[in-house]
Amino acid sequence: MSAAIPALSDFLDLQQLSSEQFWGLLRLARELKVERQRLGQNAPILAGKSLALIFQKPSLRTRVSFEMGMVQLGGYAFYLSPQEVGLGARESVADVARVLSGYCDGIMARVFAHEHVTQLAQWATVPVINGLSDFSHPCQALADIYTIWEQTDRLEGMTLAYVGDGSNNVATSLIMAAGKVGMSVRIVSPAGYVPDPAIVAQSDADVTVTDDLDGVVGADVLYTDVWTSMGQEAERDERLRIFPPYQVNRALIERTRNQEVLVMHCLPAHRGEEITDAVADGPNSVLFPQAHNRLHAQKALLAHLIGGIPLK
Ligand code: CP
Ligand code: NVA
Repeated sequence: MSAAIPALSDFLDLQQLSSEQFWGLLRLARELKVERQRLGQNAPILAGKSLALIFQKPSLRTRVSFEMGMVQLGGYAFYLSPQEVGLGARESVADVARVLSGYCDGIMARVFAHEHVTQLAQWATVPVINGLSDFSHPCQALADIYTIWEQTDRLEGMTLAYVGDGSNNVATSLIMAAGKVGMSVRIVSPAGYVPDPAIVAQSDADVTVTDDLDGVVGADVLYTDVWTSMGQEAERDERLRIFPPYQVNRALIERTRNQEVLVMHCLPAHRGEEITDAVADGPNSVLFPQAHNRLHAQKALLAHLIGGIPLK
């Protein structure tokens, strides 16, 4: 019998996860998704448990999928707006963490400064989940890899080409996630918007960084995200001048030379900027299954971190 997979205490970044822990989460997500599809509901494994949702930035997918994930597993989640909590301003991060730990069984936080999620985890006595920081978006990458696995039934040896701002939170987490499952990554970005070399060095993935659009040739997955992330609004005009050659459009799909290439975007999309309507709504797009899988991937995190369901 193989040894048990070590349990996670928080979910802050994929750097802290082994490949077997990442695979354990993917398998648990599939189990929970199939259970709900077959039976119309999940077992109430989080009955009596609650999750605080701290948001310093807007959200649709992250907020709703965490709330519904808790409800579907028999628990309860509550939203805390930036004005209410004032994380690190009205009250120190350490105090927020210690107060919430006495009320609820987990904390999810969407923040600007990544240190705010690491400080929450340092001081909380309940699990902390990073629901996006300026540095990373690990929940998104977990759902993204799950989606590729679900769509293709393979991961090992596949190539994901990420086109756009290769320095942002989504790109960072995809680079780390790909390394957990044996995928290669090509980052196709303009100069100045490339990943931190330390991130590339930390990933187990074979990562290529280029400003040449031919980087997409042969890709199995074509991924993009907004050119201007939340918090970068002051740079929007400059970014709109730099990024247009990196738009994911029909010509770029042709350039992959793979008619079956999966087109992905974490959403929200700035349609007409980083992706055209024709591609976002076209036959290669898996944008909505991808968004829906945020729910199932997060339920795996909640079942494991709060419900104590072991990874297998
Ligand atoms: N992809 C994602 O995290 O979406 P939201 O910003 O709407 O949560
Ligand atoms: N890079 C984007 C992702 C949104 C889900 C942002 O941070 O705004």
